[in-house]
Amino acid sequence: MESRGSVMKTRLDFDGPGPVLDLGGVMVHPGWLDTAAQAAMVEDLRAVIREAPLFQPMTPRGQAMSVRMTAAGRYGWFSDRSGYRYIPAHPAGQPWPPIPDSVLAAWRALVSQVRMPDCCLVNFYTGAARMGLHQDRDEADFGWPVLSISLGDEALFRVGTTTRGGPTRSLWLRSGDVAILGGAARLAFHGIDRVRPGSSALLPKGGRINLTLRVVD
Ligand code: SIN
Ligand code: MN
Repeated sequence: MESRGSVMKTRLDFDGPGPVLDLGGVMVHPGWLDTAAQAAMVEDLRAVIREAPLFQPMTPRGQAMSVRMTAAGRYGWFSDRSGYRYIPAHPAGQPWPPIPDSVLAAWRALVSQVRMPDCCLVNFYTGAARMGLHQDRDEADFGWPVLSISLGDEALFRVGTTTRGGPTRSLWLRSGDVAILGGAARLAFHGIDRVRPGSSALLPKGGRINLTLRVVD
């Protein structure tokens, strides 16, 4: 297994469909979506972004985040000077569009066929964007996992423990990879150190989309 701070190369077998990487309890399904499924999902996301345009949130300290965001579902995640929270409508006032079926299909296959997610957060990374280590802890019930889908350019994903400052491991997430933060890793610190521009042809203008599906309340 990889040592602290290095990039993971070990592939494990898993008693589910297909091989799975265990990155500190975060289960990564490499290439879970094939190229056609990725392209179809991008088309569905274009429709989401037309209804709910990407915006650039501010951290509570007033710094613009480098990632642009929007959302689909009953709630979207939002941040400004008042803090991190879920809001029931886009900051411009319109309701969030529904989560596309192509996206829900991944949740149905890997998490639950009964309880659907309340939020599909859409993060868009240009080559310069990154996301600092954080926990996803604005949801009411940590019994439900967060499911993450990567589309487009590759990104160096860093996962720690549930303690800030603990050891971390890193892995390049590629287009079509699905990661699940659940169980003991539900509150693992995680972030994106950098994106590798030009590493995927999925998005004609480049960049990376990350979707995270969350049960909120
Ligand atoms: C997130 O933690 O919200 C995004 C993670 C990623 O971009 O892969
Ligand atoms: Mn997160």
